[in-house]
Amino acid sequence: MSDLVLAMTGASGAIYSVRLLHVLLSLGRTVHLSISPAAVQVLREELDLKVDLENFDAAQILPAEESVSGDSKLNLLRGQGGSSIFSESDARYGRLVYHHYQDYNAGIASGSFPTGGMVICPCSMGTLGSLASGLSSNLIHRAAGVHLKERRKLIVVPRETPLSGIQLASMKTLSDAGAVILPAMPGFYHNPLTIHDLVDFVVTRICDQLQAPVELMQRWGTE
Ligand SMILES: Cc1cc2nc3c(=O)[nH]c(=O)nc-3n(C[C@H](O)[C@H](O)[C@H](O)COP(=O)(O)O)c2cc1C
Repeated sequence: MSDLVLAMTGASGAIYSVRLLHVLLSLGRTVHLSISPAAVQVLREELDLKVDLENFDAAQILPAEESVSGDSKLNLLRGQGGSSIFSESDARYGRLVYHHYQDYNAGIASGSFPTGGMVICPCSMGTLGSLASGLSSNLIHRAAGVHLKERRKLIVVPRETPLSGIQLASMKTLSDAGAVILPAMPGFYHNPLTIHDLVDFVVTRICDQLQAPVELMQRWGTE
């Protein structure tokens, strides 16, 4: 199975990326992870996760169930039956490779490094605009640009509302360049009861794009 790239940037919806990371590792995938400084702020604000980009440790972003304190925001995101975003599967099967957002020596900065695709989740409007302009001011921009030039799958998960004309134009530019624009816009036809259900809708659609099928929700037309 090919390696995948996951970049977290500073848009709201950090839960989508943490859940996605857990699911991909549970599938046994190797995930190359890069995190922007603004994403660190959002992870802390929304999930109480304290990520140190200079001294990164996987447990900072995928804490063991038993180490999540009772009043942690992660507990607000529990699903039916109290399942957490870290339960139902075992993330130890996969391999997490961390890359500092300024490390242009990372393999994913080069088109010669093989991958099966890249996801930017959530994608801030800042990163969106940079990509649409061809900027490469951090490893996330560079790796995304590499995926476009190599004609590999690039999935961008933007989160903002409402959207300006500049932001819509950036999405169109990226889509024309081959990226998949997959907004963090959960559907409601699968009868979600919890935030966890809404998160899994978006995560399922991302995994579908990566051709990494998962059964996290009831799909339309299936029993
Ligand atoms: C708590 C928090 C939530 C934010 N939410 C969003 C958002 O939903 N969408 C967005 O485009 N920017 C959002 N921002 C602003 C971005 O983080 C900011 O524009 C930053 O420069 C993006 O940098 P990056 O793309 O390198 O991560 C948020 C910032 C914070 C601190």
